[in-house]
Amino acid sequence: MSESTSVNTHAAKNGSKREMWSSRFTFILAATGSAVGLGNIWKFPYITGENGGGAFVLIYLMCIAVIGIPIMMAEVMLGRRGRQDPITTMKHLARESGHSRSWGLLGWMGVIAGFLILSYYSVIAGWALAYVPIMGLGTFNGMDAEGVNAVFAELVASPESLMIWHSLFIVMTMYVVARGVRGGLEKAVTYLMPLLFVLLIILIFYAMDTGYFQQGLAYLFNPDFSKITTEGILSAMGHAFFTLSLGMGAIMVYGSYLPKDTSIAQASIAVAFMDTLVALMAGMVIFPIVFANGLEPGAGPGLIFKTLPLAFGNMNYGTVFGTLFFVLLVFAAWTSSISLIEPAVTWCMKTFQLSRVKTAVLLGVFVWLMGLLTIFSFNIASDFTISSTISTQYGEFVILKDATIFDFLDYLTSNIMLPLGGLMIAIFAGWLMKKEFSREELKINSFWYSTWFFLIRFVAPVMVIIVFLNAMGVIAFMRHIFNA
Ligand code: PFF
Repeated sequence: MSESTSVNTHAAKNGSKREMWSSRFTFILAATGSAVGLGNIWKFPYITGENGGGAFVLIYLMCIAVIGIPIMMAEVMLGRRGRQDPITTMKHLARESGHSRSWGLLGWMGVIAGFLILSYYSVIAGWALAYVPIMGLGTFNGMDAEGVNAVFAELVASPESLMIWHSLFIVMTMYVVARGVRGGLEKAVTYLMPLLFVLLIILIFYAMDTGYFQQGLAYLFNPDFSKITTEGILSAMGHAFFTLSLGMGAIMVYGSYLPKDTSIAQASIAVAFMDTLVALMAGMVIFPIVFANGLEPGAGPGLIFKTLPLAFGNMNYGTVFGTLFFVLLVFAAWTSSISLIEPAVTWCMKTFQLSRVKTAVLLGVFVWLMGLLTIFSFNIASDFTISSTISTQYGEFVILKDATIFDFLDYLTSNIMLPLGGLMIAIFAGWLMKKEFSREELKINSFWYSTWFFLIRFVAPVMVIIVFLNAMGVIAFMRHIFNA
């Protein structure tokens, strides 16, 4: 019996009849749905602005290419071979290659990371939901930057409003999760993703018209390395994981529904390409608007909510385009949030023998409660901040500076948990899994296989470790020792 049949039999023994994607194209759509979300349109512009632009973007792009894509291939591959929830998959694959079942812990970390990310993701998606009626009523027509700022400030100052929108988004997410409909998801991505692209293109034309397009492009693509800090490098890498939905088992679960004959490499590259394109397009829209209106690129998490309404408020048919834009942003967030909670769902169903509906309700309640922490970070608990700096004689290493609970959760998940999960995946796929297995799954020619293998075995893990050590000040310390 070949190895792959034995994996399938194993899956069948556990009683899990796995649904399969109807084609490779659907996998690409679903994975793109997971990857493209708030990370691209909301987070990428604001962290780029906080980290000074071009140099940050360049590091981010490098991380996508040499860490993100190889790890994505590895994660999809592990998912397809295991055909279970991430925890069971990791235990099973570790045993298959003669290693300890404690690799299941990796799946665990993913389940927790997904849960924590969703808790704040749904609050921000709630902002986007709130902006649908605000835009639709024409609130921003002819408004100046100050007015637009005030609208945003008013929204986030109210825990009640945020709770309403957060609740609505959780209900939307859990509704899809409860029904387990992959069909709806596929349709949503098929039609809405291209529409989002079109709208971004329309917005790029608007940005060209501001007279500050060149300046915006220069900000995004002219690297000025004096602006980059050690935390900036860590956050560029963390964002590469976040935006591609890597390091926590989401893509592993999607890989587990992938038919055997699909090319994992092509699918991963396609997903990463589209994801990056959307982020760069969002940046090309936001920064010209920022400069044209004398706004601050480092305005933080509210950046797109303070800039895009200015564009919509001052363009023809702005109300229509603006409303449509926020509707699409909500959809993009929706298809991502479902994948954030999917590892936890598959695991809970199996462990507690719960139905999908019960699991969805239970997890929904927990995520909702956890989300309150983020809601309060923007209003009643905004003064509650955490700072953590390592000062050494070789320099000062800011781990967190005046971080609210939201900042902390974001830092913990994107900058630590996802890269750590990715590192473990790379170590597993590059060092522990039998080579014959990965070769059998990836089915690429030997040149590409060797390239992937080199990246996953050496480049990706070493880079992640260096970035971690750098952020902790260890590299500066070593440099000092060697100079001495
Ligand atoms: N990739 C999503 C985004 O960019 O918005 C966020 C995300 C989804 C992260 C799923 C992680 C994940 F597993």
